[in-house]
Amino acid sequence: KPLVVAIDGPSGSGKSSVSKEVARRLKLAYLDTGAMYRALTWYCLKTGVDLNDGAVVEQAAEDLPLEISTSPNHEYVAVGGVDITEDIREPRISSSVSAIATTMGARNELIRRQRELIDQHHHRMVVEGRDITTVVAPNAEIRMLLTASEEARLRRRGIQLGGTQSKEELAAQVIQRDAKDSTVVNFTRAADGVVTLDSSDLDFEQTVDTALEIVAK
Ligand code: CDP
Repeated sequence: KPLVVAIDGPSGSGKSSVSKEVARRLKLAYLDTGAMYRALTWYCLKTGVDLNDGAVVEQAAEDLPLEISTSPNHEYVAVGGVDITEDIREPRISSSVSAIATTMGARNELIRRQRELIDQHHHRMVVEGRDITTVVAPNAEIRMLLTASEEARLRRRGIQLGGTQSKEELAAQVIQRDAKDSTVVNFTRAADGVVTLDSSDLDFEQTVDTALEIVAK
């Protein structure tokens, strides 16, 4: 039986860790679409593509020799056989990814690949991102928007990045990226039929349990 769980949400909402755990508990495949945008960004920087040249970025998306794990237990992203699982989390990628994400031609190519992966897994997958409930899989069996207050999100990002950056720097970066992102996909408000899960006052376990309740309903 098909079961696509589409989860959208902003940076620091806990989306990735929650989505992975939901996939594990339901024995579903898992796709981190943000990692695909990050991989394309890595590839463009590597090959010297001008991030502001839409046509060239689109071509890079079509050429991208991407390999991505669809297991919630094993994180792996490679481009042309090079393991970039760690590299795509670097600040230089985070600060350039929005330029890629605002290129419609590139988005369309990544969306096409995301749908292909969902098909390959017979529509049994947790898919997380910014436009999954609205664009990639609007017919998903379960669609949710994972939100959290700005305060909670910044706190979580701080923990995730290990606290090496100053608080102000971090806050400015995250807010800037969300602002840029929301000019392309509006993930700040739930679309029709999308359930909102506000995790501001929930810990990880509670958020996972609530997500599983939404799936079970
Ligand atoms: O680090 P964080 O969890 O905030 O972001 P991510 O999920 O790794 O996604 C990185 C970037 O990819 C986002 O800031 C968006 O610019 C872009 N993205 C997108 O445009 N659409 C998606 N479905 C997923 C990510």
